[in-house]
Amino acid sequence: MLVVDALTKTVPGGRRVLDGVSFSVGAGEFVGILGSSGAGKSLTLRAISGLTELDSGEVRFACEDGTMCCVTRARGKALRAARRQMGVIFQGLHLVKRMTVIENVMMGRLGFIHPLRSWLYGFTDAEAREALEALDQVSMKPLAGRITGSLSGGEMQRVAIARAIFQRPRLYLADEPIAALDPRNAEAILNLLQPLSRHNPVVSTFHQPELTRRFCTRVVGIREGRVVYDGSPELSRSELAGIYGIREAQAV
Ligand SMILES: Nc1ncnc2c1ncn2[C@@H]1O[C@H](COP(=O)(O)OP(=O)(O)OP(=O)(O)O)[C@@H](O)[C@H]1O
Ligand SMILES: [Mg+2]
Repeated sequence: MLVVDALTKTVPGGRRVLDGVSFSVGAGEFVGILGSSGAGKSLTLRAISGLTELDSGEVRFACEDGTMCCVTRARGKALRAARRQMGVIFQGLHLVKRMTVIENVMMGRLGFIHPLRSWLYGFTDAEAREALEALDQVSMKPLAGRITGSLSGGEMQRVAIARAIFQRPRLYLADEPIAALDPRNAEAILNLLQPLSRHNPVVSTFHQPELTRRFCTRVVGIREGRVVYDGSPELSRSELAGIYGIREAQAV
């Protein structure tokens, strides 16, 4: 489904921030990426979605027609086609606060429709119904008409997920989807992502090993730009210590 193959990236100054990151993701998986701040988690997600230039390495992705397309080499139309199949829930990818909730959800499919129609926000009734269904899936249908800027952080995160669902992607990429949420809301978001992953895999970064243990099917641990763990979400203290570069006694 998704193959991440030996990604390397060096930033100005010569520091290698990705140093051969490799892993693959199959159907039905919910992969949690763990690692310290600055380990390279967000960069890895950005590389998968074709948003960052790499020195070397490849991201291959099973496209709709079953062929494997290389995201890292794709340009223009081919890159846009691959990216349409990835629903991204990224920290930096803000919702438009002055727009209503339903408009933000519909933005998820702007890349799909004819430019003229998208300039006019010309969605069909069927599309509007589908956007409402996506909001219903995240329990936000009653707030469809609200101005997004008036929502709480947890509610906005749900809208971001609804937008990704409405895009009908074949893969979800989420960057710290539960950062800044209280424990109850964090669990609620994970309870939304987990069932999605059964149909289309989810790859998401987290800082909570106790939650990846409960919700994910697999954990990839990144440390200083390298994959140092790839396996069961039931990590031992020494495996956790290895990912975070700390002594075993300090691991959760
Ligand atoms: N364009 C860039 N120029 C210079 N350094 C960069 C650039 N992009 C990323 N980095 C560096 O690469 C490293 C990895 O960044 P990344 O955002 O992937 O970290 P992260 O694992 O997501 O951390 P966090 O948990 O804090 O979000 C960081 O040290 C960051 O400063
Ligand atoms: Mg990050």
